[in-house]
Amino acid sequence: MEIKRENLIATLGGEESVARMDSEAKADALEDFLSTELDKILLSKDPFPTVAEVEQKIPTRHYRMGVGNLFVAQAPGAKVKILPPMPDKPTLYDFFEKRFAPANHVLQSAALAMKNGMPEEIILACLLHDTAQALLKADHGYWAAQMYTPYVPEKTAFAIKYHQALRFFADPAYGYEYPDLYRRLFGEDYVPLPHIRADYEMLKNHPWYEAPRLVTVNDYYSFDPKAKVSIDPFREIIGRHFKQPKEGLGNDNSPVAHMWRTIARPDMAL
Ligand SMILES: [Fe+2]
Ligand SMILES: [Fe+2]
Repeated sequence: MEIKRENLIATLGGEESVARMDSEAKADALEDFLSTELDKILLSKDPFPTVAEVEQKIPTRHYRMGVGNLFVAQAPGAKVKILPPMPDKPTLYDFFEKRFAPANHVLQSAALAMKNGMPEEIILACLLHDTAQALLKADHGYWAAQMYTPYVPEKTAFAIKYHQALRFFADPAYGYEYPDLYRRLFGEDYVPLPHIRADYEMLKNHPWYEAPRLVTVNDYYSFDPKAKVSIDPFREIIGRHFKQPKEGLGNDNSPVAHMWRTIARPDMAL
């Protein structure tokens, strides 16, 4: 993955328009471009840290790494923005457009899964697999699976839940290697937590092992500023497999409605 200065400037409308931006606008634009702390880490060329070095960085931040993307402005000096209001009966599309945006990573992952001819329930899992990171990043696969369970096929929720554990374990049969990103995020000597190791042991003999494994294989970390990402190619799959509640997500009194409401209104003080 590579981000070139000229690409960034081009996406901002060229040198002249960048010159007209004040520093806050530049910080906002950079935040949009990089979109998350994760993208910044992906760009690093430094040697991999140790677990101890990762831990030493904790008190240098004003937020915790597990916080949801909606809840903190991560670019230096940036502030959180006013979010567009949600409609009375929000759909999955409203959440993608107004709360998960830019959602490049999941849209590109789903596009890759589609290109690779994956089954529809796996393409849907790829489309949704990291969207709970709007709410929080720590244990995001487990949170996301819970959030989507009432609305998606059982295998899709299974794939979303366990992609998180399988990301820590290579599987040469599927061409999946342990990601350098994890060496950078967790430290090169990191040992996955007991619940992750236990779930991996369970999954190895599970008839649905392939479902979360295929999410990890199509987990696409790249930022191409010219890439056109859109939810449109997935509308038919969503229509066939996502049970949109007629009252709107968050209003259907399901066991997970509060999670959708929190994403809809992250500025509520209590
Ligand atoms: Fe993930
Ligand atoms: Fe991912």
